[in-house]
Amino acid sequence: MNSLVRRTHQLHQLWRTYCSAPASAASRTAGRPSYEEFIGQHQQQAQRSIVVQVSSEKSYAELYNYCSRFGSILGAHHYCVRQDEALHYVLLEYATAGEAAAAIDAGVTNGDLSGVPVRSPFLWFRAAAAAGARRGPKLASQPAPTALLSIDGNRPAEQEHLLIVLRGARDIEEQVQLLHQHSRLNELGVRLRFLAALQVQQAISGMFPAAQALPFGSSVNGFGKMGCDLDLILRFDNDTGGGGGGHQEPSRLVYHTKENLSNGRSQTQRHMECFGDMLHLFLPGVCHVRRILQARVPIIKYHHEHLDLEIDLSMSNLTGYYMSELLYMFGELDVRVRPLTFSIRRWAQACGLTNPSPGRWISNFSLTCLVMFFLQQLRQPILPTISALAKAAEPSDMRITEDGINCSFGRDLERLGFRSRNQSSLSELLLQFFEFYSQFDFHNRAISLNEGRALAKPDHSAMYIVNPLEQLLNVSKNVSLEECERLRIEVRNAAWVLESEVESASLSPEAGEGHGSHNERLEMSWGLLNLFKQPEKAVIRPNMFFKPRMVEVSDLFEQKEASSSSSATVPTASLSPSSAEPPITYKSASVRQQVQSIKAATRSELKQLRGSANGSSAAPGNSPKNRRSSR
Ligand code: CTP
Ligand code: MG
Repeated sequence: MNSLVRRTHQLHQLWRTYCSAPASAASRTAGRPSYEEFIGQHQQQAQRSIVVQVSSEKSYAELYNYCSRFGSILGAHHYCVRQDEALHYVLLEYATAGEAAAAIDAGVTNGDLSGVPVRSPFLWFRAAAAAGARRGPKLASQPAPTALLSIDGNRPAEQEHLLIVLRGARDIEEQVQLLHQHSRLNELGVRLRFLAALQVQQAISGMFPAAQALPFGSSVNGFGKMGCDLDLILRFDNDTGGGGGGHQEPSRLVYHTKENLSNGRSQTQRHMECFGDMLHLFLPGVCHVRRILQARVPIIKYHHEHLDLEIDLSMSNLTGYYMSELLYMFGELDVRVRPLTFSIRRWAQACGLTNPSPGRWISNFSLTCLVMFFLQQLRQPILPTISALAKAAEPSDMRITEDGINCSFGRDLERLGFRSRNQSSLSELLLQFFEFYSQFDFHNRAISLNEGRALAKPDHSAMYIVNPLEQLLNVSKNVSLEECERLRIEVRNAAWVLESEVESASLSPEAGEGHGSHNERLEMSWGLLNLFKQPEKAVIRPNMFFKPRMVEVSDLFEQKEASSSSSATVPTASLSPSSAEPPITYKSASVRQQVQSIKAATRSELKQLRGSANGSSAAPGNSPKNRRSSR
């Protein structure tokens, strides 16, 4: 065991030397908006915005000059939605909500098309001639003073582009950062999501003036990537904790309301059915409406064609919204949290552990919980426990959902005063994450983010993650035994791959550069990219773990003719450079170097194995690579 610890320590030292930049100051919260401020700011921004479909971005100057009559335009974003052809849109942000409302109110319905006229922030800009304007538009001749930002709000970065970016990084540390920067949901993506929420809210505001459609989940918790779904919760009261006062004398005038005739759940289902119909029949852009009303949390799913967005609308249970706040706070507490989680989510997607549709596999949310728990349980924790946050709650932090679930926790990160002393780099943390879950006893232990430690598992679920806000529930109840086993296999694989990267970097003559020269690295797959290989291309295939063996040396080297001079201990593999086989010419010097490094490492392991077979104290079963083969 000691040799394992020593070896892991050595690897971490190598990692620090060759693959990582020094960790920067961890905590950075000052001046950043709280979750409620973030939500509030984006809701107001949406109120000030309209989306106008145009024939192409060339229409911008004309659109700008036309729309300026309603108010002053602060910003403009152009984006495309690709259907059979590219559809072009411009999002305009006015200085005030009143100006945006004036622009919307000036809209007319298209007499040529049938359909119920509906007021919404989604408009299109018809040609002046079609509008019956007698004189040609002089408007376009004046250039718009506000630059049009052309940016994609939804499409994930092209695989090829990401590959080039990650290959061009200095080291794995930088790869983790770049992956985060290039795949996280951008500002336009967030704006579009808040506009989708506003559309629903405005559509029902006549009858429900206090109703709010609140975005939650990865769209707002800081863990969302480009193209992520929008989770929306529709609330009919103002009970989102954002103030509300209560200082005035209660009114003596009470609204007449309809009595609920059935129990809460079937009532909610009935209401949702009705809202589903309303969205389907009346709201512009809404299509493919599906009602999933039997789920634990009933939802209506739909697609928004002007935003190119998948939306899940729910009406019950605010705990998901508050859970998103917890994740948002965790992301704000330490700059390493989000980049690390992005790499892990990407890795899980690449090896098929996660899947956009729900099923017996681990969800992104559960996986994120695994990352948060890992960061809490470190000897020098990077994140506080949720119990610590709950203890820090002030009266202004009190939030109780209408189902009576207590979602009170300290929300002021400055006041919380949590400072991590952990200086580990992102690449070290990534490796430690994989090692931690390689060893985790999923069979007997449950993960508690409230306590920041593993607890005895209360039932026979394959994976148990205590729901932080509804502690009697298991977040990962859906995960099957087989999928849990697959996760264990894949984290071992990943740890093996990362460790191999460290070893190869340490044996490289240009060790200071990690993985060969800059030009060579641009040509090859290295670092994180080796983690993101498809399962069939992975170094170790999952089914190998079902055999009682580690990687066969013969898997790494070509078979030698039986007649050639083979080693007595490894009869099937050719390790000797003096082999009778014709020499292999490598296109890349760095590949040659890596192969040589692997051979050198394997020779030294074999030497150790021989030593142990001769009674040496070194136990082969304790080397990290052997460890990965044990089940
Ligand atoms: N949630 C929860 N408990 C669950 C599942 C979800 O509290 N058992 C909450 C979490 O706040 C989560 C949000 O609901 O962030 C949305 O769930 P989901 O869409 O499954 O996860 P996301 O975090 O949005 O991730 P993705 O990008 O995969 O949509
Ligand atoms: Mg989601």
